[in-house]
Amino acid sequence: MNVSVGPFSGQFSQLSRRLEDEAQGVWAVHDRACERFESGEDVYLLSVGDPDLPTPPRVVQAGIDALHKGRTHYAPGRGEPCLRQTIADIETRASGKPCDPDEVVVFPGATNAIYSVLATLVNPGEGVVVAEPMYIGYEGIFRALDIRKQSFDLDADGGFAFSLAAVEAAITPETRVVMVNTPGNPAGNVIAEADLRALADICRERGLWLICDEVYSMITFDAPHVSLRRAAASLDNVIIIDGLSKSHAMTGWRLGWSVTSRALADRLLDFTSSTIFGCCQFVQDAAAFALTNDEEYIQGVREEYRVRRDYVCERVAAIPGLQCQVPAAGMFVMIDVRAIAADGTVFAQRLLDAAGVSVLPGLGFGENCRGYVRVSLAQPINVLRPAFDRIAAFVAETEGKS
Ligand SMILES: Cc1ncc(COP(=O)(O)O)c(C=O)c1O
Repeated sequence: MNVSVGPFSGQFSQLSRRLEDEAQGVWAVHDRACERFESGEDVYLLSVGDPDLPTPPRVVQAGIDALHKGRTHYAPGRGEPCLRQTIADIETRASGKPCDPDEVVVFPGATNAIYSVLATLVNPGEGVVVAEPMYIGYEGIFRALDIRKQSFDLDADGGFAFSLAAVEAAITPETRVVMVNTPGNPAGNVIAEADLRALADICRERGLWLICDEVYSMITFDAPHVSLRRAAASLDNVIIIDGLSKSHAMTGWRLGWSVTSRALADRLLDFTSSTIFGCCQFVQDAAAFALTNDEEYIQGVREEYRVRRDYVCERVAAIPGLQCQVPAAGMFVMIDVRAIAADGTVFAQRLLDAAGVSVLPGLGFGENCRGYVRVSLAQPINVLRPAFDRIAAFVAETEGKS
């Protein structure tokens, strides 16, 4: 972000200064590509994380109906009872453990849910253990709250596998929270039920909170999602984050939630009452409708992303010098470009300049992804096809020169 200078520019808070250079560089290629795209240039954006699919029309209609019914006023701080009941029923079914609506708190998006949960649990200077590669958005939250990131590596060369030993090695006396994301962004990795159960045991024994970000829970290709809530033997320290952005193509509606113990939900209510003061009623009505009328829709979404995933992985396999592991879930494919470029940043810059295709450099997700780029599946095959034609030509050209 460009930092503008003015007579009061030295008078911003420490929090604002910690965020000054947040994610600088990570989005440089994407931002440049968007500018070119918007000025009418022939550029393919494989760097976006926003689904290209429309929000289901019936959900849009539910939102419009709610607006016409006057659902435009302050909502209860925890969220509308009807939506919380719907979420609690889904969680009960998915986990096999009863979930009470008062254990659910609704937020304007999963990002805000994570921010609110961490603000409620972690003091400045304390640590959160988190896997790398990691969703880029966590970084800004850690910085805003002055939380120490204590990262451990997923095995990038081994299918981004998760290791309990790596988590344990990252825990220190400063650690307050362990945070995992399954299915994962950017790697599409899934943490096995037995590992989630063992992780929950470790966290409970050590007096740590365990957060599981499950926003891709509905976009699984091989086996149904296993929630931390299902895997964990005890739920006192367990926090689930989920939302509608990805599954229902509702990024702009801003709707997410947490599922926690009742005691933590009460604390979250205190926090969110002083910061958000409730989410839009009509958005919550549309969300409740979406979650109760989505079986066919979600199957279609899953199938669409599966077709795209298979297409991308086949194209990558056919390009000498590029490699990828087939993701089990999610909306992204990580491509190993080490045979072609010094790192993913160089690859992404050159690919945009030479071929007009934008991908995200892996470094933004963690040091262990320096040699990777992330390709998004949020584009239809008729965009992926010409984009990969260009990538293939670019790699062939680059290889010929080296
Ligand atoms: C892992 C992960 N968590 C959370 C979010 C943010 O979701 P929301 O749009 O609900 O804030 C994203 C968005 O890309 C994500 O990938």
